[in-house]
Amino acid sequence: MGSVRLIQLSKNEDLRGKLVSIEGQKDIPFDIKRIYYIFDTDEQQARGYHAHLNLSQLVICVRGECEFLTDNGVTKHSFHLNTPSEGLLLQGVIWREMCNFSHDCILLVLASEYYKPDDYIWDYSKFLTEAKIND
Ligand code: TYD
Repeated sequence: MGSVRLIQLSKNEDLRGKLVSIEGQKDIPFDIKRIYYIFDTDEQQARGYHAHLNLSQLVICVRGECEFLTDNGVTKHSFHLNTPSEGLLLQGVIWREMCNFSHDCILLVLASEYYKPDDYIWDYSKFLTEAKIND
């Protein structure tokens, strides 16, 4: 069963400001093979609408805010992401949808695998089947 968890990222804070660092296999349970970020998203625009067969991700809203909807085939959750000091950890087969992006939103994603179009599940009923197989 895919899992979704909000994790608090430890901040190094001093008079100069704040710094967050994330180390693979230490702060998150995977090696980081890829980083990407989503920005300049139209506020009316939704993204995602897919799952992955084999991918773990940590999603951090480093600026602005957005809604991040998750579904593991049984349970759906909605997260309001609006701080760089927490990350949404997605592991296993999770359907995801993102919406209500503020104009300044920057969504940073750390991923366990290289970009692989074959890893995407775009069809919701296929997602439900895969979510059950991996239960
Ligand atoms: P897509 O996965 O559709 O974005 P979303 O997370 O909103 O569903 O990716 C958008 C485009 O960017 C698509 O043409 C594939 C490309 N892309 C890469 O080249 N590398 C990547 O790591 C990702 C995530 C996407």
